[in-house]
Amino acid sequence: MGLPTILFLAVISLSFLALNCYANGTFSALQNSLLVTSSPKAGQVLKAGEKNITVTWSFNKTFPAGTDSAYKTVKVKLCYAPISQENRPWRKTKDELNKDRTCQHKIVSRPYSPSTNTFTWTIERDIPSATYFVRAYVFDTKDKEVAYGQATDAAKKTNLFEVEAITGRHASLDIASVCFSVFAVVSLAGFFYLEKRKGKTSK
Ligand SMILES: *[C@@H]1O[C@H](CO)[C@@H](O)[C@H](O)[C@H]1NC(C)=O
Ligand SMILES: *[C@@H]1O[C@H](CO)[C@@H](O)[C@H](O)[C@H]1NC(C)=O
Ligand SMILES: *[C@@H]1O[C@H](CO)[C@@H](O)[C@H](O)[C@H]1NC(C)=O
Repeated sequence: MGLPTILFLAVISLSFLALNCYANGTFSALQNSLLVTSSPKAGQVLKAGEKNITVTWSFNKTFPAGTDSAYKTVKVKLCYAPISQENRPWRKTKDELNKDRTCQHKIVSRPYSPSTNTFTWTIERDIPSATYFVRAYVFDTKDKEVAYGQATDAAKKTNLFEVEAITGRHASLDIASVCFSVFAVVSLAGFFYLEKRKGKTSK
């Protein structure tokens, strides 16, 4: 093994090591110190691209003062309720935060403030139909999760709401792709025709 190979292997193993240390955060280790509410009523159905969700969050002041001294930013997310995770490994809940797929849709990111924060979000057009709840993660200055709060109970049963995806989106996509294919075939045919003609005239 030459020196370059050894160096290469060293760099690779070091990065794996770094990745492993970094990847240690777990959800169960986070402080549940944010109070979070979301505007939809339980069971409400909201249309993507049209309806708004208003989220509020604040520090739960029954925690000792100073608990939040390292809090830096808050990221609010839309998360899949258990019923929309069934048979969908790509939405699975894992305690290791870097492997957790519960909360895939970002609503907003804001600097941390203990007082009441409010944000109104129009559900983005690409949000799939599913049952959701809202969760906020708190990050420290090293961009590591340290706390959270969610607008549902620990069992994720209360304050769930549904998003109805934009209908017709697939239809228009299909139409677009058919048009594009037809265009491709026609231009290919035209190209061959021109080539043939060119071949004939040059003979
Ligand atoms: C990372 O996790 C391992 C085992 O899961 C644990 O022994 C270690 O203390 C953790 N490291 C940090 C920095 O949390
Ligand atoms: C949703 O929010 C947008 C932007 O904040 C606002 O313009 C719109 O009027 C709101 N719509 C409803 C139905 O509240
Ligand atoms: C705030 O935190 C305390 C201590 O963990 C907890 O007992 C209480 O239920 C929380 N308040 C709310 C409104 O969730």
